[in-house]
Parts: sequence; structure tokens; C-alpha cells
Amino acid sequence: TLDGFDHYMLKEIYEQPVAIRNAMRGRLDDQNATAIFGGLNLTPQQLRSVDRIILTGCGTSWHSALVGEYLLEEFARIPVEVEYASELRYRNPPIDPGTLVFGITQSGETADTLAALVETKRKGHRTLAINNVVGSSIAQAADGGVYLHAGPEIGVASTKAYTSQCCTLAMLALYFGRLRHLSYEAGQTYIKNLRLLPAAVEQSLSCDVQVRQIAEKYQSASTFLYLGRQYNFPTALEGALKLKEISYIHAEGYPAAEMKHGPIALVDTDTPSVFIVPRGTTYEKVIANMEEVKARGGPIIAVTCQANPAIDDLADDVIRVPAIPEYLQPIVSVVPLQLLAYHVALLRGCDVDKPRNLAKSVTVE
Ligand code: M6R
Repeated sequence: TLDGFDHYMLKEIYEQPVAIRNAMRGRLDDQNATAIFGGLNLTPQQLRSVDRIILTGCGTSWHSALVGEYLLEEFARIPVEVEYASELRYRNPPIDPGTLVFGITQSGETADTLAALVETKRKGHRTLAINNVVGSSIAQAADGGVYLHAGPEIGVASTKAYTSQCCTLAMLALYFGRLRHLSYEAGQTYIKNLRLLPAAVEQSLSCDVQVRQIAEKYQSASTFLYLGRQYNFPTALEGALKLKEISYIHAEGYPAAEMKHGPIALVDTDTPSVFIVPRGTTYEKVIANMEEVKARGGPIIAVTCQANPAIDDLADDVIRVPAIPEYLQPIVSVVPLQLLAYHVALLRGCDVDKPRNLAKSVTVE
């Protein structure tokens, strides 16, 4: 049921604090400063010997894989590759024996993700699923896995499954990190930060009314740019995908610094750029990118954390989300982008929950 919401997508956006809490329930081990996963079906020795990880999926699940790549490389120091499942299944890349393959999927029924897992498993690699729907085809095909526990996602546009996937990957990074070099203390801090997530996501929902006003302003645009860096580069991709799939407005997500290598040619007074610029290592550099857009008359929407006069000057609209450590920020920063896509689509009269040409799960190639 819609529980009083106008659409499933909106309901699912609002369910995110609970979904994230459920993804973490019973999985944070304070005593050992690590995460606990019941269904990996691999011994600590087998997991300790993993020296390469492949994350594969499609669409939004591929975006969460990108967040996972940053997390696992930073905290577990394991080299990670992110592959489109549709490419991986036919590409026949050399894969080392110590490689672990994760299929990431909300539905667990995506044909390409299933085929990519089955093919890598056939070659003798260990495969795990990060999956929402219990008992799905992909859950059955993999050697083991982690369920998201996000509850049913009905809207075609994935929202709570995405943030739950990112949260699950963050817990996996902690887990693999603690099997290796990550200290007890660092593990404790990491857990403390994970626990901040549900409230931070809850708080980020309070931008809804403001985002609706921004949507009114830009509803007739024909192109949007989404720009972010590091942990928020995938957020830019995800924001763009949300907008295009439900509002049918062309949108491109890019790492902000790549702008100069092409997309900046699209900037004009009718093309809004959404900058995801929370804080962190490349903060000043992204602000410099905003200046370049501003100099060309491009409207700017900034998603940021703290009051910053430079951003306030440059941006036409500033959406503030709570500050949380950089590596968890994508889980918070994506929320206003989900809402922006929702409101723009609604204002344009689109069927938000059932966009044209799309199915909830893509069970054919
Ligand atoms: O069920 P899956 O996570 O495997 O689905 C993958 C994609 O089809 C899916 O994320 C799609 O891109 C969504 N409509 C995005 O909102």
C-alpha cells in the first residue's frame, strides 16, 4: 500500500532511514569492531585469501558498485573492478584465482547480472550476491550473499535499494578491512559513523519542499548536468539516471573535473548543473568547476553540507544535507537528487512509478 504517499517512489524515498537501519540490523559487531554476515558461506581463511574483487550489476546497482569500489579499496585495500554485467558476461577477461565476484541487484532477476555470475562461477570463481529479493534467481545461483532487507521496492526507479546497497558495501569494506590491516580502533570509529546514517538520511529528507520549488524552476529544461567527484562521482551518475528515467529529460553525470574535456560545451543559460559538493578532499576543486559553469551563465544547483560563502555566491540554489564522513556521504547526498527527479517528473505529468519503456526488472538481455 501507499501508506498515504502519492506514489511508491516517494514512499520508498521516505523509507530510506528505516531501510538502512534494517540493512545494518544485527550486522554491527562492537565487540570485534567489525561487521557480521551470516550467509557468505566462505571461511575466514577463504575470505582472507581474496586478493581481487569484481563488482558487477546493471543500472543503479552498477552505480552502487562504483561506491563499493571506492570503499573497498580505501578500507580493505583490495583492488576492485566494476563491470557492467552485460559486458562481463561476454568479455572473457582474465580473472585471477583469488578473485571474488559480487553480483549486485535489487530484484535478483536481472538477466545480465545472473548470466555474468553463472559464467564466472562456471570458471571456478567464488560468487556472492548483494540482493534485496529473498530467494531470487541470483541469490540461488551465487555461492552465498547478503540480503539488503530493504523491503519491497515497487517504483521502477530504484531508491531505497540503492542506499541500502551502498550501506551494505560499506559494511563489507569494514569486514574485509578488519580481516586485514584495519585496526580495532579504526573499526570502532567506522561503526560509530555507520550508526549516524539513518538520522542523517532522515534529516536530508527535510529538503523536500525546497527541492519541489527548484523543480518548478527547472521543469522545462531539456538537459541537466550532474557533477561530483570521488565518492560523489557515482552520486552524479545516479542523479542523472533518476532524472532521465522518470522525467525523460536528458541528463548526464560526470566526474566534475572531466567537465572541461567535453560536457562544458553543453553549458548555457538553460542548462542547469547540479553539483554534489559536500566537503572532503576535492571540495575546493569542485568549487572551481562551479566557477567555470557560472562564468558561462549556467544555472547552478549545489548539494552541500555546510554554509560556505563561495558556494552561496556561485549557486542559484543551495540544498544542504547533514555532514557525515566523506565515505558515507553518497548515501546522504543522493536523497535530494531522488526528490528532484521525482518532483520534475510529477510536474511534467509523467507516470513516476511506471516510466515508459522500462520494466522493474530486466529479465531479458
Ligand atoms: O534489480 P536490479 O538491481 O538488478 O536492476 C538493475 C537495473 O535494471 C535497475 O537498477 C535500473 O537501472 C533502475 N530502473 C534504476 O532506477
